Formats: sequence, C-alpha cells, structure tokens
Amino acid sequence: MADTVTITDNSTGKSVEFPIKHGSHGPPVIDIRTLYKEFGMFTYDPGFLSTASCESDITFIDGEKGILLYRGYPIDQLAENSSFIETCYLLWYGDLPTANELEEFSGIITRHTMVHEGLRNFYSGFRRDAHPMATMVGVVGALSAFYHDSLDIHDERSREISAHRIIAKLPTIAAWSYRFSRGEPFPYPRNDLGYAENFLQLMFSYPTEEYEPNPVVAKAMDLLFILHADHEQNASTSTVRLAGSSQANPFACISAGVGTLWGPAHGGANEAVIKMLTEIGDVKNIDKYIAKAKDHDDPFRLMGFGHRVYKNYDPRAKIIRKACKEVLDVLKVNDPMFEIALRLEEIALKDEYFVAKKLYPNVDFYSGIIQHAIGIPTNMFTVIFTIGRAIGWISQWKEMITEDQQRIGRPRQLYVGAKTRDYIPMGER
Ligand code: CMC
Repeated sequence: MADTVTITDNSTGKSVEFPIKHGSHGPPVIDIRTLYKEFGMFTYDPGFLSTASCESDITFIDGEKGILLYRGYPIDQLAENSSFIETCYLLWYGDLPTANELEEFSGIITRHTMVHEGLRNFYSGFRRDAHPMATMVGVVGALSAFYHDSLDIHDERSREISAHRIIAKLPTIAAWSYRFSRGEPFPYPRNDLGYAENFLQLMFSYPTEEYEPNPVVAKAMDLLFILHADHEQNASTSTVRLAGSSQANPFACISAGVGTLWGPAHGGANEAVIKMLTEIGDVKNIDKYIAKAKDHDDPFRLMGFGHRVYKNYDPRAKIIRKACKEVLDVLKVNDPMFEIALRLEEIALKDEYFVAKKLYPNVDFYSGIIQHAIGIPTNMFTVIFTIGRAIGWISQWKEMITEDQQRIGRPRQLYVGAKTRDYIPMGER
C-alpha cells in the first residue's frame, strides 16, 4: 500500500493523496505543502500541536518514553561523560570531536570570550535595577553592531565565526548583566579556566582578592549547560528559526530567542519555581497549592510541572534531581527548599489530576533548586539557561539557513474579523 494519506473534500468530492514522510525516529509526518494548491484551504493548528515546522537532524525527543538525544547520543550518557564544550562541538559540527579537534575548538572558544570594549559602555544605558534577562536581550542584539565581519549568513566561515563568538561571549555578557544589576566591577575572562569555571569567576570574583572556583559548583554548572543545550523545536528555537528565515543576522536572531526564553511558560519557569517554593514555605502548605493548581478558576500552575512534549518524567529533571542531591551532600548545604520540592513531587505524582494529565517535573523544577543550592542568584537562572541554549539556537539556525528549500517562514491565518466595510467620517460615527 502506498505511503500516502488521502484527503477528501466532502463538499466537492475531490480526493488528493499526500505523501507520508518518515524520519529516523518518531512519528511520520503528512507532507501537506500542496494542500492549498489542491484545495484552496489551509490547515489550522495554533500552538503547533500537530505540525512539524522543519526537518532536523540535531535533537530528538520521545516524550512518551522520556528520551532526549543530541545528534543520536542519549542525554544521560552526555551528562555522565561529556563536557559542555564537547557538547557544543557535537551540536554544531554533528559528531563527537577527536582529542585534537576538541583541544583546538576549546582553544578557539577560550580566545573569543572577551567582548569589544565599546560593548561595556552599552550597559550603562540600562536602569540599575534592570533584570539581567532584560539587559541580555539588548546586549546580545547589539553584538551585530560590533561584529560586522561575520554577518554574511551565506558564507560558511562567517557562520562558524559567529557561532564561536556566541558560545564564547555569552558567559561574559551574562555575568556582566548580573554585575551591572549589583553595581559591581566587570571582571575580564580568564583563559586559564574552563568554560564553567570562567563563568563562575566572571560572576563572583573581585579585583581585590584571588578567586578559585569550587570544582563541585563548576561541575554542576557545566552539567546545567549540557542539559539545556538543545531541545528541538521549542518556542525560543522556533523563534530563532523564524527570525533567521528572513535572513536576519545570527546575533539578531539569537536575541529574539533570548526574549522568548524569558517567558515563565518557557525558560523563566526555573525562576518561577523558586518563587513558588518560597511562597509554599513549608511542607504543610503543599496541599493548598496542589488544590490551587487543580482549580481551573485559579490561574496558578505548579511551576516546573508539565511539558508539551514529555508525557513522562523529563530525563533532564531526573539527572538534575540526582546531581542536586549529590551537590547538597558534598557542599553540606541543608536547603529546606529541596525537601519541599521532593515532597511536592511525591504528592503531585500520586495525585489523580497530575497522573491523568501526565504532568511530570520538567527540567526547570530542579534546575532552579540546584542553582539556588550552589549560590546562583534567582534572577540569573534563566540567564544560565540562555548560555546553555545558545549553542542549540545557533546550530538550528545554521541547519535552517543551509537547507536546500529554505524559504521565509510565513504562517497563514483564519481571519475572523470584520468583513469589508466603508470608512465612516468622524462626524457620522
Ligand atoms: N499545573 C497545573 N495544571 C497544568 C500544568 C501545571 N504546571 N501544566 C499543564 N496543566 C494542565 C492544564 O491546565 C491543562 O488542563 P485542561 O486540559 O484541563 O485544560 C492540561 O494540563 C494541558 O496543559 P496545556 O497548557 O494545554 O499544555 P501545553 O502543552 O500547552 O503547556 C506548559 C505546556 C509547559 C506550558 C505547561 O505545562 C505549563 O504551563 N507548565 C508550568 C510552566 C513550566 O514549568 N514551564 C517550563 C516548561 S519546560 C522548559 C522549557 O521548555 O522552557
């Protein structure tokens, strides 16, 4: 039997066969690109519940089984054995590097961590109490005003240089966003440190004393970057792709992604989790909050729970939950928030409402807690997600730019507004 789906318009009796395309994993898709030509109709799918917007060979998620693969490698194996820099190489170039390739790549990233001195001045234009994500949106977008020489999106080498710059400079920009919000000096990057260690020194060192990053904290930070590195066609990545489809430059596209990630339904959820746990305050209040989350008339949602794709435990949440316990033990931190989170999870996972709707903890549930435990300020949680996700955005952007049939993204609509009507002069209204 042909691998097609036949669609019939019952009003005219016209039937057309549409091809079914198969990927290497996951459900097949119906190729409906000629639907409008054949039937004069669009499909209607707000929120993309049933729509694949592209082909991609970067990341795969099986939401039912709770599986996440980067370039085919399971996230738990990468979390266990890889480093963020190696993961960046994998996502950008497609395969794991050899030892020499990794050394060279790591050296390139290390030597691109400084930013143009003019960019420092940019910060002073913001209000002192600006949220670091607000500053990030502006400063990342401004990179295109400082690095003109890598803006030719049709040139492979330019694209690569832009990617190196984004991976390398985001920790500097991010940490300075935090420093600015505190009125503190902006440290320069240190080339003797690894990626996560350097980020920690950019965040926490002072010119007045020596700073040695805690290796346990640095390892946890590196893990967070790996776990956030890509997640196929989520809201911010789709935003980057859509922006890029207009042939906008990569820095402009990435800043569009930063803005989208900030929302509490997306990357902003980790900050919202901590606010929620602080508000719950005590295990004895959990039932009240579970009841609020189940009440349709109450806008409250259990932050860090539920996911569009995962209908099982988010594999990243599992990894962070374990790491969180280890970090708290090693650092001898007694964080009551972790206790509340564990208890909340236990109760929610048994509750009929959450079970029936398959609402499990997502990556943001524990990422906020681990960051809280290692001393990262709450307003930096989403910024850290941004640093990790930037490699996913830029890799997906490159994939989109280089595909054969690349066209501007342009969704259609079902118009339900006023029919054509004549302008009424002011005096007659
Ligand atoms: N608490 C209570 N009820 C929930 C929750 C929650 N966290 N999440 C979903 N539901 C309910 C929702 O009310 C709806 O119920 P009904 O069918 O009776 O109307 C049902 O579950 C389906 O929810 P939805 O909003 O239609 O699902 P969605 O796929 O559009 O949204 C989500 C996914 C992640 C936005 C949503 O689960 C949510 O708002 N979660 C809390 C915010 C959060 O943790 N976001 C981080 C997402 S993971 C990281 C990332 O992608 O950035």
